[in-house]
Amino acid sequence: MSTFFALLAILVTLLIYFLKYQQSYWRRRGVPHDEPSFPMGSLKEWRHTKSFSDIFAPIYEKFKGTGPFCGIYFLVQPAVFVLDLELIKKILIKDFHNFQERGVFHNEIEDPLTGNLFQLDGPKWNVLRKKLSPTFTSGKMKFMFSTVVDVANEFIKVMAEKSKAAPANVLEITDLQARYTADVIGSCAFGIECNSLRNPNADFVVMGRKALVERRHSKLVDSFMESFPRLARKLNLCSLPKEVHDFYLGIVRETVEYREKNQVKRNDFMNMLLEMKKKEGEEDGLTVEEIAAQAFIFLLAGFETSSTTMGFALYELARNQDIQDRLRKEIVEVLAQHNNECTYEAINEMKYLEQVFSETLRKYPVLPVVERVSKADYDTGDPRYLIERNTHIIILTYGIHHDPEYYPDPEKFDPERFTEEEIRKRPSCAWLPFGDGPRNCIGLRFGKMQALIGIALLLKNFKFSFAAQTPYKLAYNKNNVLLSAEHGIHLKVEEVAEN
Ligand code: HEM
Repeated sequence: MSTFFALLAILVTLLIYFLKYQQSYWRRRGVPHDEPSFPMGSLKEWRHTKSFSDIFAPIYEKFKGTGPFCGIYFLVQPAVFVLDLELIKKILIKDFHNFQERGVFHNEIEDPLTGNLFQLDGPKWNVLRKKLSPTFTSGKMKFMFSTVVDVANEFIKVMAEKSKAAPANVLEITDLQARYTADVIGSCAFGIECNSLRNPNADFVVMGRKALVERRHSKLVDSFMESFPRLARKLNLCSLPKEVHDFYLGIVRETVEYREKNQVKRNDFMNMLLEMKKKEGEEDGLTVEEIAAQAFIFLLAGFETSSTTMGFALYELARNQDIQDRLRKEIVEVLAQHNNECTYEAINEMKYLEQVFSETLRKYPVLPVVERVSKADYDTGDPRYLIERNTHIIILTYGIHHDPEYYPDPEKFDPERFTEEEIRKRPSCAWLPFGDGPRNCIGLRFGKMQALIGIALLLKNFKFSFAAQTPYKLAYNKNNVLLSAEHGIHLKVEEVAEN
């Protein structure tokens, strides 16, 4: 027995020695790095006391200027933390062939919904991206525009009812915004009327939230899966809770069957996905599971990103009443020129609205980090800074967007930063809320469309201002990789007189 314990002690010591050795990678390479804690690396405080961006923003500030990147650790796994816009441009655009992979967990066989465009890598990603790209052209957005406006009009009605009924007209707005975008995506991606605006407990949204924050396994196993995605796949681990998986796969199966049986055609993503479905004897069509995985990621990547962006925009507009008044004036004037109808052309003419949207995503990039993996060793010009193959790469959008070198007085909300002239003055890759290059956000146009329609109609109808409980500086949620306000956003909402 004592031999067994002695052996065990030796094994554990060896394992710890090996893991600690892994965590000395950047020291051995002579690259400035964030001192890792054992065994969590740079992620020690994540989900306990700090959000993702609260952990990484100080690293960006501390190491910027020391070289093209610094080193960090995900658990014991070394990762490159890029600090230089030129290197970012090479990774995302010029040398994309070497940085095509995002390197996040996916297991298409056991956990089919993870076989989606965001999580897949390699040739499968390539083929799928080519197939799905035509789904997101401006022409296709125009098709879906009226569906989005219908949901937005319902949103305005619900907002009016809720604000009248609320004490002192104070509402928590992020929840309502999320229901708006969930209804839009439910309708456009799944082809269902989930009506969460009227029914906040609609399963569709509840499950969507679960998919964002809950995991099949414990936090430690989850961190392991994120740090070693390939190994996790080989071990056949799954990430999504089973009920989430069964729920979405079920909805899509039903929708596909219904539409095929009744020959239903609609102007939505589901219709386009169905046109790509595998026909008998065909090699390269999508299976029902693959269709479900894409609809699922359109929901996950699309609903909370757009709704939190709208929430942050309203928060800043409430804090900066002069900007709110100027924006409302533009919206009212442009709509008047379009018979008071919210059309595709009208929204495109609202230039100040676009500036407000861009500045919101500058200050609050809801997905604060862009990730890639290096396929082969990559020479950055300095041998010390060689990026070895299979190294995980992190680009902290949040850090760049708050860097006074590119955005003086970064905490100030100033849409003037996004006039055409000001944009031209900045280096490329200084604004990355949708990533960049061939693997950028495929839903950019759609996300922007639903947010712009939502903000335009809200401002036309309501005035937003701070309530007693609105904080002057927002704290971020620690559990969510997405940037979101920790205690929601409470604003006073009053209807504006007929304009
Ligand atoms: C304000 C709204 C949105 C923001 C800020 C946002 C942001 C992002 C970012 C930063 C990425 C990673 C890009 C990169 O790695 O270079 C991404 C990827 C992606 N987004 Fe969005 N997104 C938004 C809305 C949407 C919507 C509405 C959809 C779908 C309908 C969507 C679907 C996707 C997909 C599928 C990917 C993965 C693309 C790929 O890997 O090929 N997003 N998004």
